[in-house]
Amino acid sequence: MGKWFSKLYDPVMEPLERLKFRYIRETLIHKAKGNVLEIGSGTGLNFPYYTQAVKVTAIEPDPTMRKKSLKRAEHARVPIDVILADAQALPFPEHTFDTVVGTLVLCTIPNPEKALNEIRRVCKPGGHVLFFEHVRAEHSLLGRLQDWMTPVWKRVCNGCHLNRETLETVKKAGFTIVHVEKHNNGILLMIEALNEK
Ligand SMILES: C[S@@+](CC[C@H](N)C(=O)[O-])C[C@H]1O[C@@H](n2cnc3c(N)ncnc32)[C@H](O)[C@@H]1O
Repeated sequence: MGKWFSKLYDPVMEPLERLKFRYIRETLIHKAKGNVLEIGSGTGLNFPYYTQAVKVTAIEPDPTMRKKSLKRAEHARVPIDVILADAQALPFPEHTFDTVVGTLVLCTIPNPEKALNEIRRVCKPGGHVLFFEHVRAEHSLLGRLQDWMTPVWKRVCNGCHLNRETLETVKKAGFTIVHVEKHNNGILLMIEALNEK
């Protein structure tokens, strides 16, 4: 992982956070209940918004990002542990979590299908998944622009793909979609789904 990316993540994100992301994070994260898993928690930008969780276990494979998140974990309203781990091979037994959260992460994980299968395994039957993701636009011209930009974008932004069709991938993994909220011409999605087994 590029160290510069981890170090510059918070300042680079700040304008977007102010404009829209903070509102989305707050709305989504507030819904996380019970024993919660957050995948790819980065610098912990979601941590201030957990209000209903009993406990949060966050996993993050980048040591620099994990380290940055520890201060936010300390100041959170609920207990948060941050573990170095990969969402494609989660180190937890099946049916452990009531809610699984992921924000701006399925765009970056090398094999999102594998990660979603792991999430399905560790999430309790009837448990909730909450995602906030940027996706490929439905608008064909914008979608093609995202396709065109992705090879370079991926290199600069630590593997982030601009053109993944994440809602479809979540459905294909077997989750039942409960609610989708679209922002910015459908490029940003808030997804709530159930792990019905
Ligand atoms: C764009 S950042 C988003 C960070 C944070 N979730 C947020 O909303 O600000 C993408 C995150 O995905 C993490 N990531 C990349 N590959 C991963 C994997 N295989 N498993 C879990 N997290 C991963 C990165 O380390 C990084 O923290």
